[in-house]
Amino acid sequence: MIIGKTITAQAHPNIALVKYWGKRRKEGNIPAVGSISITLDTLYSRTSIRLEPALRGDRFIFNGAPAPEAQRRRVQMFLDIFRRRAGRAVFARIESENNFPTAAGLASSASGFAALAVAANRAFQLHLEERELSRLARQGSGSAARSIFGGFVEMHAGTRPDGSDAFAEPLLAPEAWPLRVVICITSRQEKSIGSTEGMERTAATSPFYSAWVSSSKDDLAEIRRAIRGKNFRELTEVSEHSCLKMHGLILSARPGILYWNGTTVELIHRIRALQRDGVPVFFTIDAGPQVKAVCLPEALSDVVGALKRVDGVREVLVTGLGQGARIVEGDG
Ligand code: PMV
Repeated sequence: MIIGKTITAQAHPNIALVKYWGKRRKEGNIPAVGSISITLDTLYSRTSIRLEPALRGDRFIFNGAPAPEAQRRRVQMFLDIFRRRAGRAVFARIESENNFPTAAGLASSASGFAALAVAANRAFQLHLEERELSRLARQGSGSAARSIFGGFVEMHAGTRPDGSDAFAEPLLAPEAWPLRVVICITSRQEKSIGSTEGMERTAATSPFYSAWVSSSKDDLAEIRRAIRGKNFRELTEVSEHSCLKMHGLILSARPGILYWNGTTVELIHRIRALQRDGVPVFFTIDAGPQVKAVCLPEALSDVVGALKRVDGVREVLVTGLGQGARIVEGDG
């Protein structure tokens, strides 16, 4: 264990193209379906940990201020896994910062827990390999398992009851197919219904849930093929299908959940119009109203130019594909 020294890790958010929605077990966030994502660059969470034997509980500072108690407890429960593995009940001071808006469908929990897993692994000197870190990150947030790796990443749902086969692994390095992602922020409000609650309600009430789960295997096979062949048209088809199918599913819960606003819909129409003009771009949307447009590098300026003019778009962020979670300070 490294006592009294600050260790900092950085991780990037990821965006699923074939979506994860639904858990086969809530405890440990074991997913009901596999998913495939891209890890971004430019946007990041930077998370520091310092083990301090004098503390009686973990301290958690988030974006410069003490985090609300519920968030602090979530982090403490996550670090309990590391304490159990290390056989040492030492608490920590954790500071985490995001350089992008939190809780608006941009998966800040994914990059945050991936960074914390990597930093805690070093602080507790557990020497865990990436696959195991991915399993652990999953227990903080399902999508965090994917942010351990860079580029194109597949998360396996697995079948074992203990979730030991539910981990992510890399499919293709970011440089191998350098797509661009244009994130259109349409609202800065925190989302109304968190993903865990939304998933539970959907699984319990939607008549479409079993079809969602059983059809995911075909989507995964198709997107693997698209990525392997760097076939942008196929990537477009399967990604938009998975996104719209997930939102259709979520709408069919009772009561139904609608994460979109009017601008979200306008952006979908605008992107479909760009496609009709031959621009290689597609949309994807998570549990919030932001729209992420994924395009080939040569289409970037057309896509940014068109989308930032859509009424209601507050900000446009441009990123590429980035690396997995890593230590950035306090190494050695
Ligand atoms: O990891 P969570 O619990 O925030 O769930 C992520 C759910 C989606 O972002 C909507 C889809 C996905 O695969 O990331």
